[in-house]
Amino acid sequence: MAKNILVLSLLVITCALVAAFEPSPLQDFCVADPSSSARVNGLACMDPKLAQADHFVFSGLHVAGNTSNPLGSRVTPVTVAQIPGLNTLGIALARIDYAPWGVVPPHVHPRATEILTVIEGSLEVGFVTSNPDNRLISKVLQKGDVFVFPVGLIHFQRNVGHGNAFSISGLSSQNPGVITIANTVFGSNPAIADDLLAKAFQVDKSVVGQLQTKF
Ligand SMILES: *[C@@H]1O[C@H](CO)[C@@H](O)[C@H](O)[C@H]1NC(C)=O
Repeated sequence: MAKNILVLSLLVITCALVAAFEPSPLQDFCVADPSSSARVNGLACMDPKLAQADHFVFSGLHVAGNTSNPLGSRVTPVTVAQIPGLNTLGIALARIDYAPWGVVPPHVHPRATEILTVIEGSLEVGFVTSNPDNRLISKVLQKGDVFVFPVGLIHFQRNVGHGNAFSISGLSSQNPGVITIANTVFGSNPAIADDLLAKAFQVDKSVVGQLQTKF
């Protein structure tokens, strides 16, 4: 009897874990209906009879993103915001361009594991495990190499080659989300109290103030 309950609760836990990511679709597709005000986990579906090829298409991923910015990188996302037909399907893509020494700063995707492949150039990539170990797992990748950033972990990329670089990432959510650490912590609106951040980062308030002006 107790064993049955144990098996049952394990089943329930397993189901709950599976449901923590995008649930399996119950229909062929669910093209997002931008005009619907219905609130569901994802976006409301349009009438499937109205679905067209264009709802499943994105063009231009062969074009390099503009990396003329302080980070020297540019992400071109291809999520449900670009392809309404991705709604409920649990997958997305991104192209990332890097100028020499360009950086994608430490960030998190709250809803997706990312699998990145280097198409051109060489990239230093890494992620950090959660507390208490905070172990850095990093590697320099060459063209054709593939690396995985597990869901929810802080990760980063940097172009360590001589020329421009670019990579393509697959992500396990139609809407992976991005939390850039510096922007969220030092650039929130309204700002987090500077004395709180000074204590959190163990620095002087003036250092916090300087960081807050940058984000
Ligand atoms: C790239 O971005 C910079 C800075 O915003 C801008 O001045 C420049 O015109 C852009 N280049 C192209 C080709 O769009």
